[in-house]
Amino acid sequence: MKFAMPASKNARDTVILVLAAGKGTRLRSNVAKVLHRAGGLTLVEHVVRAALAIKPAEVVVVVGHQSENVAAVVEALGAKSVLQNPQHGTGHAVLVARRSIRKSAKYLLVVPGDAPLLRPETLRRLLDTHRSGNAAATILTAKLADPTGYGRIVFKQDSTVAAIVEQSAASPEQRALNEVNSSIYCFTLAKLWPSLARVKPDNAHKELYLTDAISVLNEARERVLAVAADQPDEIWGCNTRTHLADADRSFRQRKAQQLMDSGVTIYLPETVIIDSTVTVGQDTVIEPNVQLLGATKIGAGCVIRTGTVISNSTVADGAQIEPHCVITDSRVGPEAQIGPFARLRPGADLRKSSKVGNFVEIKKSVVHEGAKVPHLTYIGDASVGAKANIGAGTITCNYDGYGKFPTVIGKRAFIGSDTTLVAPVRIGDGAYVAAGSTITENVPADSLAIARGRQANKKDWASAKRAEMERLHRGHSAHASHSSRGSKPHKRKASKRRAKSRSRR
Ligand code: UD1
Ligand code: CA
Repeated sequence: MKFAMPASKNARDTVILVLAAGKGTRLRSNVAKVLHRAGGLTLVEHVVRAALAIKPAEVVVVVGHQSENVAAVVEALGAKSVLQNPQHGTGHAVLVARRSIRKSAKYLLVVPGDAPLLRPETLRRLLDTHRSGNAAATILTAKLADPTGYGRIVFKQDSTVAAIVEQSAASPEQRALNEVNSSIYCFTLAKLWPSLARVKPDNAHKELYLTDAISVLNEARERVLAVAADQPDEIWGCNTRTHLADADRSFRQRKAQQLMDSGVTIYLPETVIIDSTVTVGQDTVIEPNVQLLGATKIGAGCVIRTGTVISNSTVADGAQIEPHCVITDSRVGPEAQIGPFARLRPGADLRKSSKVGNFVEIKKSVVHEGAKVPHLTYIGDASVGAKANIGAGTITCNYDGYGKFPTVIGKRAFIGSDTTLVAPVRIGDGAYVAAGSTITENVPADSLAIARGRQANKKDWASAKRAEMERLHRGHSAHASHSSRGSKPHKRKASKRRAKSRSRR
């Protein structure tokens, strides 16, 4: 017995065409519109990802402006690209792509490359409505409070669509319509091609508008349906920098909401920036103004305090990140404590219950379980042994101007404050290094290394120095008041200043 697959699970009879050849004049940019970013990704990446998510036969992207750059981005995701050059409008873009659309496909979903908030479930719903409604075309629409700039949907008595009227061609009555064209459509290919062949460049820009295929279909008595998006922002096209900021805000809200729904606490969620690619475990608390970017994974029960920026890093369960830490391409182990004001650069690997405190920079180094680097330290190309303690102001001198060299610090080693460790160098397990040392040779396990000038105390030196300074200073002020006699007030001031600076030398 054969079971029919639910329509929404299968889009193998459908090709998705992404229109991404336009320049984006209204953005006033040297970068092609679809390569601008919102929600951490380029606009076209969002669209192609949503398209691929419904598993169509293929995704074809029409490229034109900065075609090589756009093609590189979409091909990396697994889409195909086709060149439209020059660009004569959205209808022309579809015609140009015709030769790249496989003959076996029955439906074509058309999506503009500048509508980043479109969700896969909405594409699926559009396709389902189209199939079950037996339509020649189905338009995804939205009801917008402010429809300015969008094509308006003109309905017939029976709630099917008669036409899409562009803003520039709309009558005042039509402009008052608030249900708009998203530029996201589903077409039955056998009906699309003949109607598109009859579209003429009858507009100010002398372009072929895909929107005109709708009225052509209507005139041919074909059925055109409209389906409204659940969330109006899904259809937003990013034509201006303001649109771009609005889209970005929507992405951030969406992500914060998803995380809160899954059991993450976020305070002032409108201030946090979390990329869609980020995962966060249950009962983690995220404070205001935190940024979690790229392939970052945060575990459960963590605290990420205000002002912290984490990119492409893994933070394990129960870690505590104090305010204003910058963590990049790094790993933070369970129960570790970081910051405030700590910087983890690429390759920092902090193990369980380790501690990295204020004004500490760690690069390409392992800080083993329970080790502490509490204050004002640079650790680079190093391994810090389990339970070692690194005193304030310790520096690994890992670079000689040509190459980088490793520092290995043993388990339970104790490095006194203000130590410089000139790499390559090894500090044995359990060894001590006296504060203020410059260590250039290996220190054996359980030894003490002292590498600094010996202290000398000079008896009564300070009181003698003070007496001499006071004598000198009195001499100067007498000299100053003598030389200024009879001079003008501003000159007197100037000479006083000179005397002062002399006595300071
Ligand atoms: C279009 C629709 C409008 C709709 C709006 C939704 C037309 C004529 N108008 O207007 O009804 O409300 O989208 O956002 O279709 N492109 C190409 N080749 C071209 C021209 C455009 O690939 O020759 C691409 C653009 O890169 C863009 C997309 O098509 O990604 C839409 O073009 P755009 O200029 O943004 O159309 P709108 O004026 O916004
Ligand atoms: Ca647009």
